[in-house]
Amino acid sequence: MSASNEQIFETLVYPYLNHAVRMLEAGYASKADIDNAMRFGCGYPKGPLTVLDELGPATVRDALAARHAATGDHLHQPAGLLEEVAAQGGSFEALGAGSVQAAPELRHDIRTVGVVGTGTMASGIAQVFAQSGYDVVFVGRSEDKLAGVTSYITKNLDRAIARGKSDEATKAEVLARLTGATTREALADVDIVVEAIAEDLAIKTELFVDLDRIVKQGAILATTTSSLPITELAKATSRPADVIGMHFFNPAPVMKLVEVVTTESTSPEVDETVKALCARTGKVAVSCGDRAGFIVNCLLFPYLNDAVLLAEAGEELGTIDAAIKETAGFPMGPFELLDVVGNDVSLAIQQELYREFDEPGFAPAATLVAKVDAGELGRKTKKGFHDYS
Ligand code: 3HC
Repeated sequence: MSASNEQIFETLVYPYLNHAVRMLEAGYASKADIDNAMRFGCGYPKGPLTVLDELGPATVRDALAARHAATGDHLHQPAGLLEEVAAQGGSFEALGAGSVQAAPELRHDIRTVGVVGTGTMASGIAQVFAQSGYDVVFVGRSEDKLAGVTSYITKNLDRAIARGKSDEATKAEVLARLTGATTREALADVDIVVEAIAEDLAIKTELFVDLDRIVKQGAILATTTSSLPITELAKATSRPADVIGMHFFNPAPVMKLVEVVTTESTSPEVDETVKALCARTGKVAVSCGDRAGFIVNCLLFPYLNDAVLLAEAGEELGTIDAAIKETAGFPMGPFELLDVVGNDVSLAIQQELYREFDEPGFAPAATLVAKVDAGELGRKTKKGFHDYS
């Protein structure tokens, strides 16, 4: 099988656009937030609703309707709002007009940031805050793991120096703002904690119980979970109003998006402070409700899963990657991105979306499951969809 770039684009990108319209029509997120989320979370040149306007809502509607007639898959059926906009000859731009909001302000004094975890996300997040001038206390389970965080950040700073974007003095300043600790008690005086530990409800709940005991009153307790219920983590504390989600993207020092996730209990001041903090660290914040996948993962992973299905149907991985980069202008092809995120993480997210939305078309592709079973997790194991050995 050898589809043209255009066919690959339509097969993979049109359902993603349709899905973005469904998210908008369900009132889960605004037009601006949906577009910003995909631009700043995944490096796409434009958000899906802007792309839809450029392609022409009627063109996309017609192509989806033809595909739906062929597949019978609900995910290919044009969203009601897409039908409406296409029928009226309107645009999504017009639907998003007038939604500009005032810049958020810091309602809490934030000087010191705690980061819990020593993996890629935690390391990147610690770097983001330290290079924005905040003192950072990062907590890990061993001295070795703490050293891993420092070496990750040092490597990134060295790369920036090599590219002429930074200098040794700045590197020394950033590193001096970082303090590692192997005990959570070191977080007692921080103004906000951002945790990025294992994506497991029991493990995170135990942490939140501990943070509630240790961290001073009035501090903000943030989680980077991408799929666990933040409401449950909030309930594990005596201060649910101070608990919020801050979902960063990989690699955190580069991707500008943070999905700020509020629960029913999160106080408006905490929400506003976190958004202001994002702005101060050069990030773009979008508002999300406490639902698995938020904006980005909910739109991204079904598209990645569809790419795996297309490969199962006989299309070459390299052809799909190249077609997407060329036609959609995405910075990575789907298989390159799966290998960066990790097939284990991607499978877990896709399973979570499948559970949350009960959408048969979200069932994880067999090859994704097989890759995880074979331990071919992506770049981190030197083999995923592509080979890195
Ligand atoms: N850590 C820190 N900095 C990095 C980095 C890393 N791992 N990788 C690249 N960079 C920096 C480079 O130093 C460079 O900085 P500069 O512009 O200041 O010089 C900049 O990023 C661009 O890097 P390169 O020129 O080497 O490489 P590319 O142009 O290929 O860009 C990329 C790399 C920014 C990662 C780009 O490919 C991209 O945007 N990819 C999409 C990534 C994506 O979609 N992420 C979201 C995944 S989903 C997720 O995280 C959610 C979770 O719940 C799973």
